[in-house]
Amino acid sequence: MAKKYLIETFGCQMNDLDSEKIAGSFHQEGMEATNDASLADIIILNTCSVREKAVQKVYARLGEIKRHKANRPDLVVGVVGCMAQLERSAILKRAPFVNVVAGPQKGAVMGDLVNRSVRSRAPLVDMRTDEDPAPLETEHILRQSPWRASVTISEGCNRCCAYCVVPITRGKERARESAGIFGEIQGLVERGYIEIMLLGQTVNSYVDPTDARMNFARLLNGVAAIPGVRRIRFTSPHPADFSDELLGVMETCPQVCNHIHLPVQSGSTGILKAMRRDYTRESYLRVVEKIRGLQRPIAISTDIIVGFPGETDADFQDTLSLLDAVQYESAFSFKYSPRPYTSALNLPDDVGDEEKGKRLSMLQDRQRQIQFRRNAAYLDGIVEVLVESRARSRVSLSGRTSNNKIVNFDGPENLMGKLVQVEITGYGPNSLKGTWIRKL
Ligand code: 5AD
Ligand code: SF4
Repeated sequence: MAKKYLIETFGCQMNDLDSEKIAGSFHQEGMEATNDASLADIIILNTCSVREKAVQKVYARLGEIKRHKANRPDLVVGVVGCMAQLERSAILKRAPFVNVVAGPQKGAVMGDLVNRSVRSRAPLVDMRTDEDPAPLETEHILRQSPWRASVTISEGCNRCCAYCVVPITRGKERARESAGIFGEIQGLVERGYIEIMLLGQTVNSYVDPTDARMNFARLLNGVAAIPGVRRIRFTSPHPADFSDELLGVMETCPQVCNHIHLPVQSGSTGILKAMRRDYTRESYLRVVEKIRGLQRPIAISTDIIVGFPGETDADFQDTLSLLDAVQYESAFSFKYSPRPYTSALNLPDDVGDEEKGKRLSMLQDRQRQIQFRRNAAYLDGIVEVLVESRARSRVSLSGRTSNNKIVNFDGPENLMGKLVQVEITGYGPNSLKGTWIRKL
């Protein structure tokens, strides 16, 4: 009987895609997916280490899995991804029943690793190294969605933001050849995919390793030229590398979604300097101004960290005033969490947890008000939605507009994966509500 696997994914979109690569490798080995941990022969935790909380979640989950393993000693348990790369010894010490510990970018070999671990008495450890990197081309990817696909354009990160552990976990930046990227997307379109998400840690620093003229803006143009690609998204660009050429492509290519996720992290130039972000409040605002000056309206969202070492109340007020200045469509915000091997670890974590919490909720309140006002402007308008899923709330379907607004509405299930027009009849701070008009 085919072995059953369950992959639990923590963290970002890059990890979601890595899990699809792991699933692809398992299928090559004849294994089948299950959602039920008690039926699984293999449980893989694909982990994140960006904040301490994400790490704690994995240890808590390992505590539960230990009980499954006590009943079923044959169960194979793997801990993979960023946190595994960072703390393999701690994992093996705290959860000695784990069979496989592997770093990120190990998707393609995961089936083999799991099979080998069954024959081995000791846990198998396979870490990512810059000296012996995994190939960037992945043959087998078992995708979750039949219409929306993420595509790796680069792996790793060459920046050195003081708070960020990702350059350590995912290593030095490596870019994929554009021919491989175009080929993969062509294949996806032929199988019916209409939305493509280009992924890289700093996606806009992309340069084809075999052709220096093929930068991110030109890559985006090339993807838009593939017939059948209806929507293109990308994440995450770094504000310091946002070129006019890229803005030009966004202005003129309707296939490129009119949304930019532009992580700012702080509104204070002093804190940005301490964070080693390579831009100031003013230069960030200049990029925003250029985006706002385009013929095509483009939504901007962001990431913010509160309570970075040395953040004074005045610095925090600068972040609040930046929210007012930019009027983000949405914002993800986090309390600063000290991470191993990062340069900020040398700075005292001097904003107390209570104060971080206060700042976070002030910031989130302010942003919620902004979103509430922005979403009100959609009322009675008509938007184009790619239907993605059954909604959690009373209305039955949910999808996103090109500018990344979530829209919930009633409609038949066969609209899933289709582009439709929806008239907006209601709104909240986080989503819009509407009535389905027609399929496009
Ligand atoms: N503490 C808190 N938030 C962090 N992020 C990255 N590192 C940390 C950290 N040490 C946030 C940043 C980043 C997002 C993915 O996670 O805002 O953009
Ligand atoms: Fe993604 Fe960063 Fe978490 Fe790794 S550490 S999974 S790159 S968010």
